[in-house]
Amino acid sequence: MKIESLLIHGGIDGDKRTGAVSVPIYQTSTYKQDAIGKNRGYEYSRTGNPTRDAVEKLIADLEEGERGFAFSSGLAAISSALMLFHSGDKIILSSNVYGGTFRVIDKVFKNFNLNYELVDTSNLKKVKESITKDVKAIFIETPTNPLMTITDIRKISQIAEENKILTIVDNTFMSPYLQKPLKLGADIVLHSATKYLGGHSDLIAGLLVVNDRELGEKIHFIQNSAGAILSPFDSWLLIRGIKTLSVRMDRHLENAEYVAEFLRKNDAVDKIYYPGFKDHPGYEIHRSQASGGGAVISFVLKEGLDVNKFLKNLKLITLGESLGGVESLISHPATMTHATVPYEIRQEIGIVDNLVRLSVGLENKDDIVEDLKNALKFAK
Ligand SMILES: Cc1ncc(COP(=O)(O)O)c(C=O)c1O
Repeated sequence: MKIESLLIHGGIDGDKRTGAVSVPIYQTSTYKQDAIGKNRGYEYSRTGNPTRDAVEKLIADLEEGERGFAFSSGLAAISSALMLFHSGDKIILSSNVYGGTFRVIDKVFKNFNLNYELVDTSNLKKVKESITKDVKAIFIETPTNPLMTITDIRKISQIAEENKILTIVDNTFMSPYLQKPLKLGADIVLHSATKYLGGHSDLIAGLLVVNDRELGEKIHFIQNSAGAILSPFDSWLLIRGIKTLSVRMDRHLENAEYVAEFLRKNDAVDKIYYPGFKDHPGYEIHRSQASGGGAVISFVLKEGLDVNKFLKNLKLITLGESLGGVESLISHPATMTHATVPYEIRQEIGIVDNLVRLSVGLENKDDIVEDLKNALKFAK
């Protein structure tokens, strides 16, 4: 099946018993056992639940992996992946990953002596130089949030394999519709399913997919032990969102290209970060591993312009955290998503105070452009 069909019929398709075309919501904590040691495949819903199974099998199908896991948030998925490591281990981390990923590693896992090094993973030489014997994984986001830096998934996976360490890829910005990291050699792919997979800004969820049975067993052990599972209702909601991913994503891409072209021509805009542009420094690598530029555009307003006035005067586009929903959302990384990243690091990596990140939604593209055009006038 092609991905458009898999989105609708992958995983567990409907309900065999009744013929219901929608997977039932098994809103139960526990299951009747027929005798001691004899159950019908389920014992307790932290360990396994049929609705969660359905979304876990669906994401495994979509990412072409062996096994999928659903968590209560993207960060719960990330934290669960990090629990694979031990005190004294070290992780190489893409230098401008999502602020929350940095925070959980820097402020939580570091307390357990899990170390990290921030590396510009688009620079393979630097990645190779950073590998010491305590490094156990390379954690990348491509494109990164919010500066859209591209990392070569194939090459990073090769380096990791040569060193017998894991490659973990946050695929939130692309979704499996545009990019499939496991097919490119990664070991673990993860999603904040809150974003494009859910797609409607009504759900917080996270997913992990692996292509190795043994690694799958380890993650299931962590999922069951640490317990940050996705609820049956939210699993169902996520399945419902995933069904329309292909049509949503096609429109997201069309709108984003149109908006990016408008921004490029606007004299209030100093710099645009958008991997759909041919002159984006990672364009060739991105096109070799993904089938579209995505629909998140970050841009910097010219010096002297008032970013707050610009944001306050938007009428259609919503100022808020998150991305990937049907509505266009705009955020100010320095004070919102990346506020936890120290000021000096933010300046160093380019998260300057005049930077905004726009998640282009599914509204009419001329309405989006009109809203931006009008609000930019107020920034001057
Ligand atoms: C790239 C990326 N990864 C992970 C996360 C964390 O996901 P969640 O908010 O679902 O916990 C986010 C959230 O914005 C994100 O943008």
